[in-house]
Amino acid sequence: MARPVTGVHVTGWGAYAPSLVLRNVDLERMVDTNDEWIVSRTGISERRIAGPDETTASMAAVAGLRAIATAGLQPDDIDLILLGTLSPDYVMPSTAALVKEAIGNKRAAAMDLYAACSGFVYGYATGHAYIASGMAKHVLVIGAETLSRYTDFSDRSTCILFGDGAGAVVLSASDEPGGTLGIEMTTDPSGAYLIWLPGGGAARPATATSHASGEHYMKMKGTETFKMAVRTLGSTATAAVKKAGLDLSDVDLVVPHQANNRIIEALAKSLDFPMAKVFVNVQRYGNTSAASVPLALSEAVAAGRVKKGDRLLMVAFGSGLTSGAIMLQWTADPAAMARAAAIGPA
Ligand code: UT7
Repeated sequence: MARPVTGVHVTGWGAYAPSLVLRNVDLERMVDTNDEWIVSRTGISERRIAGPDETTASMAAVAGLRAIATAGLQPDDIDLILLGTLSPDYVMPSTAALVKEAIGNKRAAAMDLYAACSGFVYGYATGHAYIASGMAKHVLVIGAETLSRYTDFSDRSTCILFGDGAGAVVLSASDEPGGTLGIEMTTDPSGAYLIWLPGGGAARPATATSHASGEHYMKMKGTETFKMAVRTLGSTATAAVKKAGLDLSDVDLVVPHQANNRIIEALAKSLDFPMAKVFVNVQRYGNTSAASVPLALSEAVAAGRVKKGDRLLMVAFGSGLTSGAIMLQWTADPAAMARAAAIGPA
């Protein structure tokens, strides 16, 4: 095992969103809803939907390759691939194994992480631990989802919310100052069934009956989830900032899980934190679960909202109920920023 290091930095980032756009007006033709209701209750105007040949693995691979290219690395430089997803291509093999094949990496260990919308943040925390312990030098952390395949497009309370996409970062060992400053992860099973997908697992295997009753679709108690989300995001974010030895006033940009603009605004209000320092792109992608934070991070950088030395707070919340937050100082060099700009956000 190599010498443990303390510095874990984001050296690469990238994202991918499918080209098919599903607008609120399209949903008006599918369920009893309307653009005004969706925008006022969620902030979402449109979301991306995977094409017939796209899967979680294929989107994750594109985002992953973009992150590796931004870092100025080759696929074989990656020691470990961690994929946060709740919509794996298969129950087995892991989707991360398929991503390894797709990106042409011959040497990494690869595994999926199941933490729903917190999957990317949990993956980041896990990658951090591998690097800080000396077990890995470069870790590819991906969040990718094909939620459209688990969405009941006759249920107006859920089908308006979700979208597909992928985002990734490369975490690298380095002794330079900055990088990851504080991490918080929580799981509260008291809300385990607020958002769940009952069918297809070992407890309720897929049968013709379970399929006919729609057990293979996501179910959600929206209002209860909303309240838990605001509370938990706030406490998790605050804990990560504290672990970094900082104060909320030291944070330059918050990149939160993009579930609902009202949740993000309520979070900012509860923390007395200005919305001007919060990145929001939920209007164009909806809730992409584990993909949402890295997709937002990629767009925030492309939009010029992140510069060297900035302190970023990423925070997520999801089924489980899981929550996680990462406090980090952005240290990407100008060459990486230029490579990312050439690739584009998503
Ligand atoms: O990644 C984390 C996972 N999920 C979340 O973070 C989601 C958290 N929850 C939410 O974002 C919100 O609860 C929703 C957007 C899902 C719903 O908003 P809400 O303000 O909590 O609405 P509601 O469920 O209390 O429904 C209000 C009304 C109901 O009608 P009645 O009973 O008042 O007549 C619903 O039937 O709105 C109705 N409704 C709709 N109307 C038009 C529900 N969905 C729709 C719709 N279009 N799509």
